[in-house]
Amino acid sequence: MRPLGVQVPTMPGRAPSSGPEAVGSAAVRTFATHQRMTTTVHTMKMTDGQHVNATAGNGGGRESTHFADYDEVPEGHFYDPDAEYEPDPEYAATLAPDAARQRRERIGPTGRPLPYFPIPGPLTDHGPAKIIAMCNQKGGVGKTTSTINLGAALAEYGRRVLLVDFDPQGALSVGLGVNPMELDLTVYNLLMERGMSADEVLLKTAVPNMDLLPSNIDLSAAEVQLVSEVARESTLQRALKPLLQDYDYIVIDCQPSLGLLTVNALTAAHKVIVPLECEFFALRGVALLTETIEKVQERLNPELELDGILATMYDSRTVHSREVLARVVEAFDDHVYHTVIGRTVRFPETTVAGEPITTYASNSVGAAAYRQLAREVLARCHAE
Ligand SMILES: Nc1ncnc2c1ncn2[C@@H]1O[C@H](COP(=O)(O)OP(=O)(O)OP(=O)(O)O)[C@@H](O)[C@H]1O
Ligand SMILES: [Mg+2]
Repeated sequence: MRPLGVQVPTMPGRAPSSGPEAVGSAAVRTFATHQRMTTTVHTMKMTDGQHVNATAGNGGGRESTHFADYDEVPEGHFYDPDAEYEPDPEYAATLAPDAARQRRERIGPTGRPLPYFPIPGPLTDHGPAKIIAMCNQKGGVGKTTSTINLGAALAEYGRRVLLVDFDPQGALSVGLGVNPMELDLTVYNLLMERGMSADEVLLKTAVPNMDLLPSNIDLSAAEVQLVSEVARESTLQRALKPLLQDYDYIVIDCQPSLGLLTVNALTAAHKVIVPLECEFFALRGVALLTETIEKVQERLNPELELDGILATMYDSRTVHSREVLARVVEAFDDHVYHTVIGRTVRFPETTVAGEPITTYASNSVGAAAYRQLAREVLARCHAE
């Protein structure tokens, strides 16, 4: 068995001010101080007199045309006229999308120096796909949001992406504008009916390069029915096999449980991403999750690896959020992605709109964060 090499504390607490555990919070303070020194201008006055947030461009290579002079654009700002409030400039500055600004050395929200994640070049051919399971048995931590937006950002970078809705609640399908109740064929049919081809179930999404295997409440029956199947844990792996050559990335949105469906997702996957909400109970249950990942690694899927821990719903303005993030970095060290997803009302809005944030609010900080995550995930894959 390949241990994950992480020691997970059962409960996060306030980071002490001295002793060996103080490293994370000290690093966070460094980040805050560093950013206060480097961020100066917060708003720009537009021609209609409104003060708005502004951007120099985004990771997709498009550039805002709202500024006559590129040099006037405040560093790390994003133009999102409908945003509820201006993004925290300290946090936004870490998402500055263009290479020149990224290369400048800076401390990221995790308290570590932020590496440069290059904009990936185009691919001439596609596949075989890397399969990523988005997994945490804790509910509401940002699994579905991260699946949709990481997928959309990878697709923007020219990767062929398949998203698998593996939660009977069908939230991923809803988030992409599909009504799960109206579907005749879903991932359930693909799992349970021999001879069913994935093409019959696949849906094209509005995002070019991104397809969806939808699900609905039918999938809850699979959990029970699979129990009596031969090689029940590898049912999804078998179903996805014919699709591997058609995609570069397959991202599976797991349900909030460690039941048989999640074990199927982990058995099919090469990598796991664990989203963690930056709040007090974030680390509760993570020990159980890493134990499950290790068991699947040992017994069913030796290729499985923890790709990263993704901190979500981070609010850099609150000490609490910063302390929780410091504890997460303390516990998981290099497993924690440098990219941290900030808390913004734009995400719930995208679910209602049925589209990813990369199209719904393309120049928002949230879109920039998921583009940076996509570049970081690609950089980790290429580093192997
Ligand atoms: N960064 C964020 N900022 C603010 N709200 C967010 C953020 N990410 C997700 N949300 C919102 O939090 C709620 C839960 O997110 P999401 O559905 O992605 O979590 P989940 O882990 O998939 O939940 P479940 O376990 O129920 O499947 C949603 O309403 C979503 O819009
Ligand atoms: Mg979900």
